[in-house]
Amino acid sequence: MATAPRTPFIAGNWKMNLDHLQAIAFVQKLAWTLKDKNHDFGDVEVAVFPPFTDLRSVQTLIEGDKLELKFGAQDLSQHDAGAYTGEISGAFLAALDSAYVIIGHSERRQYHGETDELVAAKVAAAHRHGIVPVICVGETAEDLEQHGPSAVPVAQLRTALEGAAAGREIVVAYEPVWAIGSGQAATSAQAQQVCEALRAVIAEVQGDEAAAATRVLYGGSVKAGNIAGFLKEPDVDGALVGGASLQLEEFASIVRFKSHVGTL
Ligand code: 13P
Repeated sequence: MATAPRTPFIAGNWKMNLDHLQAIAFVQKLAWTLKDKNHDFGDVEVAVFPPFTDLRSVQTLIEGDKLELKFGAQDLSQHDAGAYTGEISGAFLAALDSAYVIIGHSERRQYHGETDELVAAKVAAAHRHGIVPVICVGETAEDLEQHGPSAVPVAQLRTALEGAAAGREIVVAYEPVWAIGSGQAATSAQAQQVCEALRAVIAEVQGDEAAAATRVLYGGSVKAGNIAGFLKEPDVDGALVGGASLQLEEFASIVRFKSHVGTL
């Protein structure tokens, strides 16, 4: 398959960390740090995914100071409006200029009972509102043992893509559940194997052109010390970073992975 140039994407999923005041301080420092190091945002795209209550503050800061950082939400409702207490509409996220939204993170699947069908409905909701879904898929340790490395993520993605609108951008994040927050990252070869299989699903469902254009990320215990290895793989286009995205210098170093490719 011909590979179109894909801009690497480093995304920081803050999960339930940092309130809006801490978010402002963090985003300011991140922007200064990257500016100081002459980071080219056209070369490696960077986005943060703060909690909902931070989004307005982060938007105001990024737009007010014309920062090149992007931002997104960690979830959205499958509904657009109505009697859904506690839910957040994609319309609200679009009104905040949220470029992205994470959908189907394993913590939502595990703790909030999100099914593949719900994930597909949320992907459809994101596209209805012009937001790029970052679709998370990944297997547990038991899945890995029972079904091998790519069966579960491939099946999850196949269902999620049923919600995707034709011709609209998606990002896919392969996050093995056993690697999240464990300090036990997948090897770059393991990540490549599954990311390649996920790209093949995109090709099958949406065609070769979409598959070649779609960024497929790896997530799970990504750090400055292992990022370059993942990004050397042909089908890994970036990372969805959890814990390390809350450490300023570490995250800035992950963003600048090209500067330490030769150091591994
Ligand atoms: P860690 O980087 O903390 O393992 O988390 C990964 C993750 O879940 C990002 O969405």
